[in-house]
Amino acid sequence: MINLLYCIVVLIITRCLLAEAVSVNPLPKPRSIQWGYVGPIYLHRSFTFFRQPNPILEAAVERTLNLIWSEQWKPRVIVQSESPNYPPFPINLTKRTDDDNIRLLTAISIDVKDFSVHLQHGVDESYTLDIFSDRIGTITSKTVWGALHALQTLNQIVISDGNGGLIIEKTVHIEDAPLYPHRGLLLDTARNFYPVSDLLKTIDALAWSKMNVFHWHIVDSQSWPLQLKSYPQMTGDAYSNNEIYSQSDVQQVIDYGRLRGVRILPEFDMPGHARAGYRQIDPDIVSCGDSWWSNDEWPYHTAVEPTPGQLDIINQKTYKVVNNIISEVTSIFTEKFFHAGFDELNQNCYNYSKYVSEWFKENPNATYPDLAQYFLDRVYPMIKATNKRIVMWEDVFLSPDFPAKDVPKDVILQSWNEGVNNTKKITAAGYDVIVSSADFLYLDCGFGGWISNDPRYNQNLNNGAAIGDFNWGGTGGSWCAPYKTWQRIYDYDIDYTLTDIEKKHVLGAEAALWSEQSDSVVLDSKVWPRTAALAELLWSGNKDMSGRKRYREMAQRINEYRERLVARGVGAAPLQPKWCYKNPHACDFFRNETVPDYNLQ
Ligand SMILES: *[C@@H]1O[C@H](CO)[C@@H](O)[C@H](O)[C@H]1NC(C)=O
Ligand SMILES: *[C@@H]1O[C@H](CO)[C@@H](O)[C@H](O)[C@H]1NC(C)=O
Ligand SMILES: *[C@@H]1O[C@H](CO)[C@@H](O)[C@H](O)[C@H]1NC(C)=O
Ligand SMILES: *[C@@H]1O[C@H](CO)[C@@H](O)[C@H](O)[C@H]1NC(C)=O
Ligand SMILES: *[C@@H]1O[C@H](CO)[C@@H](O)[C@H](O)[C@H]1NC(C)=O
Repeated sequence: MINLLYCIVVLIITRCLLAEAVSVNPLPKPRSIQWGYVGPIYLHRSFTFFRQPNPILEAAVERTLNLIWSEQWKPRVIVQSESPNYPPFPINLTKRTDDDNIRLLTAISIDVKDFSVHLQHGVDESYTLDIFSDRIGTITSKTVWGALHALQTLNQIVISDGNGGLIIEKTVHIEDAPLYPHRGLLLDTARNFYPVSDLLKTIDALAWSKMNVFHWHIVDSQSWPLQLKSYPQMTGDAYSNNEIYSQSDVQQVIDYGRLRGVRILPEFDMPGHARAGYRQIDPDIVSCGDSWWSNDEWPYHTAVEPTPGQLDIINQKTYKVVNNIISEVTSIFTEKFFHAGFDELNQNCYNYSKYVSEWFKENPNATYPDLAQYFLDRVYPMIKATNKRIVMWEDVFLSPDFPAKDVPKDVILQSWNEGVNNTKKITAAGYDVIVSSADFLYLDCGFGGWISNDPRYNQNLNNGAAIGDFNWGGTGGSWCAPYKTWQRIYDYDIDYTLTDIEKKHVLGAEAALWSEQSDSVVLDSKVWPRTAALAELLWSGNKDMSGRKRYREMAQRINEYRERLVARGVGAAPLQPKWCYKNPHACDFFRNETVPDYNLQ
C-alpha cells in the first residue's frame, strides 16, 4: 500500500519507480538505479556521444562503442531482476511494451565538470546517467574518472534486441558513487611470472568492475623481474630473459591503467622477502639468503617459505641501494601511494648477519623491535622525500615478535591477519587501513600445501582424523584454507565492530592473489569472478535498502557477470551448474527469500 501510494506520488512528479521490468542486472549494483516505465529505447545506428575533447574520454567512448556493438549482449537468462515475486518470470525482450512508436537514442551527452583532476586516492568517482524516452541521454560527472564508470554501467545496460539492434529496456535514472575510495586487487608477479598481456587483461576486468587499484607485488625473494636503470644486474634473478618487465612494459601498464581509471600501486617489500636481485648487487646486503629456510627444525626456520632472505638492517650499504631503488621506482610509478612491504620479518634470519650480531653485542639492551625501528627510521624519510604516501603491511605495527616500536601515524597499514580484529586494532590506534584479511580475501587459499618432501601428507587417515595437522587435513591443506567462495568475500563486513571514528580510517580493501601456485594458466579463474564480489562490496555494499544482506539477488548478478567476463575473453570460473543459472534461485538453500540470517558474528 505504501509502495502504491509512493508510486502514484512519484508518477505525478516524474515516473513510477515500482516496476523494474528489466532483464539487465549491472555489477556492481549502482547505489541508486531507478527504472522508468517507458521502453524499450533503441540505439540509433549512428548512436554517438557528445563530449568535450579529452584523450581519456575519447578512448573510453571508443571502447564503449566497440564493445556494445560487437558484444550484442543478450542477458543469458531473462528474469525480472529484484522481483518481489517468487519465482521470477520471463519477459519477451523483442516485444515492445508500450506502443509501436520506436524510441531512438541518437546520442548521450557527457558533461565532465573538471578534466584536470588527477587519478589518485580519494578522487571523485561519482556520476549520473539518464536515459530519457524523448531526447538524448546524459552522463554527468565531476571528473573524467566518474565518466569512465558511467560508461561501464552503460556497457552493461545496453543489450541486443535479438535482431542486430541494441536497446536499453526502459528509461532509467542512475546516481552512483563508490562507498570506498580504495578498491583493489593484489597480484604477485614474483613467485611466478605473468606476461604483460595478463596484467593488461586483468586491468581491463578491474575497470569493468569499477575497481580502481592494481596493487603490483612485483618482486620477492624468489625472483626480481623488474628492469632498473640504477641496477640492471638485478634481473639476473628473473626466471629467464623472457620473464622480465622492461621499463617500457611498466610504462605500458601504468598508461593502460590510467586510461581506464586504474591506479598502479607498486610494492617493493623490504626489509623482508628480499633476496633475488639484491644479491646480484652485493650478497653482503642480504642476510640468511643461503640458509635452509626451514632449517629442518622449525623453531630455527629463517623464512615461512622458501627461499629466505632479508635486507641486512645494519650493513650501511643496504641504505645506499635502497635509496637508489626507491628514487628510481618512485619516479617511474606516478601513483601517490608507495608500498614498502615490511611483512613477515624473521628473527633467526639475522643470526646470519655479522653486522646485526655485532650490533646486538654493542647494544646489549636492544631488542628486535629496536632493529625493525632502525630500518624504519632510515627508509621512512627516504620515501617521504619522494612525496609518496607510504603503505606497509600490518606486521610493522602488529607483528607479535618483530614490529617496529614507533610507526608514524601517516603510514597506511594493510591488514591481513585475524579478520576484523586487526582492522579494529589498527584503526583504533589511529592508522588508515586497507583490508586484505586472508580469511576472506586471499584468492590463493584452499589449493593445498605446495611444499615438497612433506611427510605430513604420508598418512592413510581420513580428513579430520588427526586434529591440528592443517597441512593435509580436512581444512584443505593450505595455511589459509579453505578456498574463499564469492559468498565468503561478498558477506564480509570489513568494518564490523568498528566505531564511527574507526570506520573513517577504512580506505577500502584488496583481494590478493599470491602466486606460489598461480601463473598465466590459472590467473583468470582464480581471480574472476570472485573479485567482482569484492568490487560490489566496496562500491555499493552487500546490503539492500532495509539493511538486509543481498546475497540472494547477487547470485544471479554474479552468474551473469561471469558470463560477460568469459564473453570478453577472461576465463572466469563457473560458480554453479548451468542449470542453476538457467533456473534463477532454483539452487538457493532456502526458497524463502526473507529467511532469517544466521548472523554468525
Ligand atoms: C516474442 O515476441 C516476438 C515478436 O513479437 C514473437 O514473435 C514471439 O513469438 C514472442 N515469444 C514469446 C515466447 O512470446
Ligand atoms: C639466533 O640467535 C638467537 C639469540 O642468540 C637464538 O636464540 C636463536 O636460537 C638463534 N637462531 C638460530 C636459527 O640459530
Ligand atoms: C641496559 O639495561 C640495564 C638494566 O636495565 C641498565 O642498567 C643499563 O644501563 C642499560 N644499558 C644501556 C647501554 O642502555
Ligand atoms: C577476534 O577476537 C575475538 C575476541 O577476542 C576472538 O574470540 C576471535 O577468535 C578473534 N578472531 C580472530 C579471527 O582471530
Ligand atoms: C519467510 O521467513 C520469514 C522470517 O522467518 C517469515 O516471517 C515468513 O513467514 C517466511 N515466509 C514464508 C513464505 O514461509
